[in-house]
Parts: sequence; C-alpha cells; structure tokens
Amino acid sequence: IFRNKLEFFAAAKVSSSFPAPDLQEIAFAGRSNVGKSSLLNSLTRQWGVVRTSDKPGHTQTINFFKLGSKLCLVDLPGYGFAYAKEEVKDAWEELVKEYVSTREGLKRVCLLIDAKWGMKPRDHELIDLMERSQTRYQIVLTKTDTIFPIDVARRAMQIEESLKPNKSVVQPLMMVSSKSGAGIRSLRTALTKIARF
Ligand code: GTP
Ligand code: MG
Repeated sequence: IFRNKLEFFAAAKVSSSFPAPDLQEIAFAGRSNVGKSSLLNSLTRQWGVVRTSDKPGHTQTINFFKLGSKLCLVDLPGYGFAYAKEEVKDAWEELVKEYVSTREGLKRVCLLIDAKWGMKPRDHELIDLMERSQTRYQIVLTKTDTIFPIDVARRAMQIEESLKPNKSVVQPLMMVSSKSGAGIRSLRTALTKIARF
C-alpha cells in the first residue's frame, strides 16, 4: 500500500468540509512540531506532497491525502502550540477531537510523542477521549535520533507501563526517526496490517 502515489485530497477547517468517509483512514496526531508531517513523508517516501516546517503550528487544517484507491492518510493540526491566538487554538483542538472521536472509516490514530519530551497533559486528554470513543490508537515515539538509545528505551517502557490499563491502545509502541529512517519500515509494516487494502 505504501508504494502507491500520495495525492492531496482535501483540507478541512470545519467538520462539515470533511470529505465523504468512503475510504479507510489512518490519522497522525500529536503536539505541534512533533514530526507528524515529516513522518507522512518518510512512510510514503514521497517528499513535497506533505509540507513540513520548523515553525510549530504549521499544519492548521486537517489534511487528507489519498494513498491508492482505498486508503487516506490524515495529517492533523498539532495541539499545544502556545503562540496561536486562544480562540484559533481552541477551534483546532475541537476539530481534532471531533475527528478522532466520530470519524467513520478511521482505522487507527498514530499518536506521536517526542521521545525526548514524553507525554504531556494534552496527549493524555486525547488518549482519554480515544478511550471513551473506543478509537484504536497506537503510540509512535518520534525523533529518536535526538537522544541516546538507552533513553529512548526507558521512555518507551515508561509509556507502555502507563498505558497498560487502557483498552483501545494497540501495543507495542513504535519508535521512529524520520531523520535517520530508523523504525520507519517496522511502522509501515504494522500499518499495512490494519485493514484490507
Ligand atoms: P505541526 O504541523 O506544526 O503540527 O508540526 P508537525 O508535527 O507536522 O512537525 P513537522 O513534521 O513539520 O516537523 C517539525 C520539525 O521537526 C521540522 O523542523 C522537522 O525537520 C523536525 N523533525 C521531524 N522529524 C524529525 C526527526 O525524526 N528527527 C529530527 N531530529 N527532527 C525531526
Ligand atoms: Mg504538520
């Protein structure tokens, strides 16, 4: 499935402009700057379709990308970005929350966590919501190139332990670096198994 050409499909600022839920979807969520857009590029080996940025808060709409005729990869706007105006920030968060808790065809949410910084209150909020709405999600530790492997392992263990009581989480957690390419193949393989494409 990841050999297909990635094509921009739709962008939405409000739920009424979501495309019809005809395809299976895998979404990428997480704090601003955690590496969502970069991961989409690495997974598909296609650079230039999904835009990335050094400036946090870059992705401000929910962006839908078609990968072949049956799957859509969905780049969600990051949360926890302090510089955006309060009302703008709330609107994004509400949009993301509505998407992950109600979207038909949504097969999996990859919740990206920066390996260096770990889980923050906003991440826990989203996890609680996905548990309540029974949305299947998995944790992906990102930017593993920025800290020592032993610290990545420690972080991973700590997160897996804290999520043990949760029901909708898919374990094991995955660890990736879009920069070095580490873990990208394993994640691709795991995602390929989610649905029939
Ligand atoms: P928003 O759209 O603002 O929510 O951000 P995002 O989560 O889409 O992050 P994006 O992919 O745009 O990456 C943010 C910054 O982190 C960019 O400067 C990337 O080059 C950098 N980055 C992404 N992945 C990695 C990684 O694996 N390692 C390192 N060292 N940097 C990374
Ligand atoms: Mg982005």
